[in-house]
Amino acid sequence: MPRTIVITGASSGIGEALALSYARDRNCLGLLGRDTPRLDRIAERCRSAGALVSPAAIDVRAHRDMEAWLQRFDDKTPVDLVIANAGVMAGSAAPNELESAETARALVEINLLGVMNTIQPILPRMVARRRGQIAIVSSIAAFLPLADAPSYGASKAAVLSYGLALRSLLQPQGIGVSVICPGYVDTPMMRQEQGSKPSVMPPEQAAAIIRRGLVRDRAVIAFPPLFALVTRIGGLLPDRLRRWTNAPFRFTVKAYSRPDQEP
Ligand SMILES: NC(=O)c1ccc[n+]([C@@H]2O[C@H](COP(=O)([O-])OP(=O)(O)OC[C@H]3O[C@@H](n4cnc5c(N)ncnc54)[C@H](OP(=O)(O)O)[C@@H]3O)[C@@H](O)[C@H]2O)c1
Repeated sequence: MPRTIVITGASSGIGEALALSYARDRNCLGLLGRDTPRLDRIAERCRSAGALVSPAAIDVRAHRDMEAWLQRFDDKTPVDLVIANAGVMAGSAAPNELESAETARALVEINLLGVMNTIQPILPRMVARRRGQIAIVSSIAAFLPLADAPSYGASKAAVLSYGLALRSLLQPQGIGVSVICPGYVDTPMMRQEQGSKPSVMPPEQAAAIIRRGLVRDRAVIAFPPLFALVTRIGGLLPDRLRRWTNAPFRFTVKAYSRPDQEP
């Protein structure tokens, strides 16, 4: 049966792959991003695949715009699944360089507050309907502090904690909450990072894994499994040992496209 699905960050990478994958089942899709031409092209491909699509260019930081659009969309077609995927990555531009305060703030505003702005307008409605599912895209970086991207890691650890807390709160009310923790997925974001990237996978493969995890209502959808396990164990190591084992995996991040852009 067709379902109604909202995806943020649908104009690129993992969100784009998820949109195209769900489009093939003729679902009703609300696709959000910032880059209108790119978003429109993806919306058109989703329509050609059989989906009913409403695209909207909204910055996830603009909480009033998010609330107004999401609630209007939900009035027309009650939302079954929200995937809060939009995010940015930034970190050390050169070895051991500190990220700027503006960048740190933008990361938290987009990766943490943006997730809340995506979920909160719909959540009370799902609770009233006693039905619905929320998916939050975090990262494997949530498991292991990254010296080269402190604010990115912090924002991803925060949404992991937020999602799992919501899951405990909302499961008795019939709402599923899953946190998605991808490893390296070959997207424009990942290409900003310079360093070793074990087990990179294409976004289509990531989308298929995410879909399977959501069907099973998994609490944490972390992949690839071995890399996820190693990262989790790495996060539990004593400080000195953790820094030593992490040394070969230090990286730099090229200036990211528009992380500091105001909403
Ligand atoms: N790729 C990886 O290896 C990897 C690994 C772990 C976790 N993740 C997470 O996966 C998610 C998707 O990343 P990706 O790799 O697919 O990156 P991507 O290709 O750069 O796509 C990021 C998406 O987020 C949107 N976005 C960014 N800032 C936004 C804002 N302020 N308001 C609205 N939309 C915004 C972008 O929209 P516009 O392009 O239209 O601006 C784009 O659609 C992110 O949360 C990321 O942290 C990625």
